[in-house]
Amino acid sequence: MNELEQKIQELEQISNALEPNEKERNLFFDQTKKFAHDFINSLTTKKAYNQAAIDPSSFTIGDKNIGMAEIILTYENEVANKGINAASGSHLGYIPGGGIFSASLADVMVGVSNEYAGMHFASPGGVAMEHELIRWMSSIFGYPEKSIGNLTSGGSIANLIALTSARDKHKIKGSKIEKSVIYLSEQTHHCIQKALRIIGLEDIIIRYVKIDPRSKIIISDLTKLIIEDILLGLLPFLVVGSAGTTDTGAIDPLEEMAKICQTHNLWFHVDAAYGGFFMLLDKQKRAFKGIELSDSLVVDPHKGLFLPYGIGAVLIKDKEAVFHSHHQTANYMQDALKEASPINPADVSPELTKHFRGMRMWLPLQLHGVEPFKACLEEKIYLLQYMRSKLDKLGFSLGPEPDLSVSYFWFETKATDRDEFNKKLLEFIHEDGRSFLSSTKIKEQFVIRIAILSFRTKLKAADQALKMIERCLRKTKLFFKKI
Ligand SMILES: Cc1ncc(COP(=O)(O)O)c(C=O)c1O
Repeated sequence: MNELEQKIQELEQISNALEPNEKERNLFFDQTKKFAHDFINSLTTKKAYNQAAIDPSSFTIGDKNIGMAEIILTYENEVANKGINAASGSHLGYIPGGGIFSASLADVMVGVSNEYAGMHFASPGGVAMEHELIRWMSSIFGYPEKSIGNLTSGGSIANLIALTSARDKHKIKGSKIEKSVIYLSEQTHHCIQKALRIIGLEDIIIRYVKIDPRSKIIISDLTKLIIEDILLGLLPFLVVGSAGTTDTGAIDPLEEMAKICQTHNLWFHVDAAYGGFFMLLDKQKRAFKGIELSDSLVVDPHKGLFLPYGIGAVLIKDKEAVFHSHHQTANYMQDALKEASPINPADVSPELTKHFRGMRMWLPLQLHGVEPFKACLEEKIYLLQYMRSKLDKLGFSLGPEPDLSVSYFWFETKATDRDEFNKKLLEFIHEDGRSFLSSTKIKEQFVIRIAILSFRTKLKAADQALKMIERCLRKTKLFFKKI
């Protein structure tokens, strides 16, 4: 054996640690399995929000390796048990997360086989699976078969891809930027403004269209703004609608918005990141009418399909508009590109190498079928109605009748300033932590939000939350009585 071979062998002895044998793998699986069971079994007794501070030093990467048991303990104590418990059915804040168990098994399989799902050449099966998911979603939203799409890390990147395509279709660049106009409402998710800055449209004109008391875009105002801008010599080019706003779950009047866009040749984008999958319910379809007329839309499986964080989706009708910025070739890609292949995910996204997200969506849909997902979505709508009626009985004021599973409430009081009272109430709710709720501002007034979307939110969790709110309301009244 020469010196080089000897060195390689020495290194192999050390690097072999990265390939545990079957016995070791079984041990790791067993330990991870125990964590998963303990975690899930304790969810109903654990708080949804724990404000306790973390100890950053517990994550230090040192020279010594530590065992799986210790690693799991650190994860459990310092990550899983602190902050918002996003897997809890008592998480009723922001847009609650999912985390269905079967999707996590898909992630294990995908991690083990390390599929390269950015290119058809590397993973024809993986790409075909993602195409089927995009076809399935297109059929839900009435998009044509030939629409293209992408599974992204979440709604923000999905919106970014759609807006980039809109920009390229309308050739918004150079001196055109400052004259071009985008129409949205103050209820539009902030990732849209963020995406506009990222794609070089910081200096574009943004018009905030008036909204009605149910937080929906007022069509007459949209029309008026567009016509005024045309008369001013400006270039209206994009209208953004929401199908389920983050604050109140409101669905904009999509059909009328689509017609205006058709009349004036504008790109119509719908952000349905939160609300989109409610369209699986026959009863809800009417509210989304017109979404099929949009040019692009975003929907998040890590919201409405209850999957673990890390999967959003964008659907776009105009392939050329998408390809303008996202399709690129290079010498080192020549093997991958020589055949006429189905559309590569890498040509529809800023990502080349990516997590093979398709499996974590495809596996649960195949394993459970679509029905339980639909039942779960419908259950969320009813649970919100249930909570609203109970809150009403507790003396709270309620936001308008919701479209989906998000609403808000506040307590009217003469004892002190309304905002001050409700802020204190939310402070007590967060201190309690049994259930987690968040807040927002509606017409400049502080309100408390309930957002029901966790697949684990059941009647029992709703009752628990109501008890906590009642408990905290008593505490708040007492607090203001004393001062
Ligand atoms: C309507 C809407 N759009 C976009 C987003 C951003 O999605 P993500 O957090 O997955 O990037 C959200 C997040 O809650 C949302 O509610």
